[in-house]
Amino acid sequence: MADILRSTVAGVPVEPGTARATSVNPARLDDVVAHVALADADTFAAACQAARAAQRRWARVPAAVRGRVIANVGRLVEANFEALAALVTREVGKPLAEARGEVQEIVDTCDFFLGEGRRLYGQTVPSEMPDKQLFTFRVPVGVTAVVTAGNFPVAVPSWYLVPALLCGNAVVWKPAEYAAGCADALVHLVRRAGLPDGLLEVVYADGDTTYAGLEKGLAAGLIDKIGFTGSTAVGERIGALAGRHLQRPCLELGGKNPMVVTEDADLDLAVEGALFAGFGTAGQRCTSLGTAIVHESVHDEFVARLEAAVRQARVGDPTDARVLYGPLMSQRFAARFEDYLGWIGDDHRVVGSTGTGRIGPDNPRDGFVGDPATGLYYHPTVVLDLTPKDQLFQQETFGPIIGVTRYASLPDAIELADLPGYGLSAAIYTTDPAKAFTFRQGTRAGMVSVNNSTSGAEAHLPFGGNGRSGNGSRQSGIWVLDEFTRWQSMNWDYSGRLQRAQMDTATTEPDLAYRLP
Ligand code: UN1
Repeated sequence: MADILRSTVAGVPVEPGTARATSVNPARLDDVVAHVALADADTFAAACQAARAAQRRWARVPAAVRGRVIANVGRLVEANFEALAALVTREVGKPLAEARGEVQEIVDTCDFFLGEGRRLYGQTVPSEMPDKQLFTFRVPVGVTAVVTAGNFPVAVPSWYLVPALLCGNAVVWKPAEYAAGCADALVHLVRRAGLPDGLLEVVYADGDTTYAGLEKGLAAGLIDKIGFTGSTAVGERIGALAGRHLQRPCLELGGKNPMVVTEDADLDLAVEGALFAGFGTAGQRCTSLGTAIVHESVHDEFVARLEAAVRQARVGDPTDARVLYGPLMSQRFAARFEDYLGWIGDDHRVVGSTGTGRIGPDNPRDGFVGDPATGLYYHPTVVLDLTPKDQLFQQETFGPIIGVTRYASLPDAIELADLPGYGLSAAIYTTDPAKAFTFRQGTRAGMVSVNNSTSGAEAHLPFGGNGRSGNGSRQSGIWVLDEFTRWQSMNWDYSGRLQRAQMDTATTEPDLAYRLP
């Protein structure tokens, strides 16, 4: 990818300024994936302006025709499946099997929404008066500004792009700079699916510029909806900004996702789940396992099996099929992960590897696959004896680290699970249905898994968080339609006279004094 990636306004690449970013392969830091020209806030606003003009025309295109465009996106993604998966692995370092799963998630999302083009149902509703009919319609919101992270550089963006476009909106997408190559690929596939110009603008920008661009766009009335996936801290800022403009954004934020392991759990299954959810994608999913909350009677046995499993797991080159996880996504995430490691205290025991921190010749990992010196590789870290006062217990720690703590009774476990204040995903491993349902009812998480890990959302279920994980907005499935459309009601009076609601309604005479003999 020798060309420099540029933002677009009305589908046309803008002249690059001086600000630049470079996206590199985190497994081979000398492999440059993309050079990126960073746009300024005015360009962001200009893209929103162009999107506004295109959106008005798009909203008039029949939804079934828009659905065909989504069908074509799915076909094009399938036809480019392996190339896109390989690019995901190259740019953000997730193992190829996971990258393929990520690409499949786009196809699944398209499969779901192409049919929605022939539904997008409204209702016919009876009126309280004769010769009058009521209706509801879904109306596109308008221009959607989408800001996404790079841990799912194509699947999570598709959760916004696909339903937003299907519903008749235009999208201005600000992808993560460190995943710009993936963004560019997805934009090409969507545009070539028959999408008219200007409906999907891409703007590459740093965080502050993006915020300034959102401010400008909102002030000028050019943005009708913000979709944001990223950290809780940035989500709070974006939520406050949107609120000042009376908008309700989609905020899909971090998680400190708990996994409760009860005294009757299948421990091997729980360990398998902890390994996948804790260390898959190098722990950089918003659904990654935070803390395993284990019943005191099985705690030591669970820890022993988990420790063995983590020690045996292969870390290294993400193109090698044996690997559980590869490098961290970028230098920024690696530096932040090292800060989190600083939260490990003297009262904690650390297990799972031959060291902690960055893997290298002087800090080797048994069974490493490839050469650790070429990339941003970190030891898997399991921290035991966590207590609720620990930072490691309270805060999301994006990276290959999980905590373990113990509990005595199920109500205690539920309280511990929700204590950090997030609410994205929570799992319970148990063979007792009563415990599963009690946990489901007790936790605030948006997604609850029983005998399955904290990761594993499917494209047709609602996805989103509560508390520090989000503002209750939901992605995926039919539920996201309420984010990208607004309900409009219509009443049609064909009586030929003014019938006043609540005043001219017919009445009947009841005998409310009647009592059974
Ligand atoms: C995210 O990390 O932002 O369930 C989304 C999962 C994935 C989605 C994760 N299908 O882990």
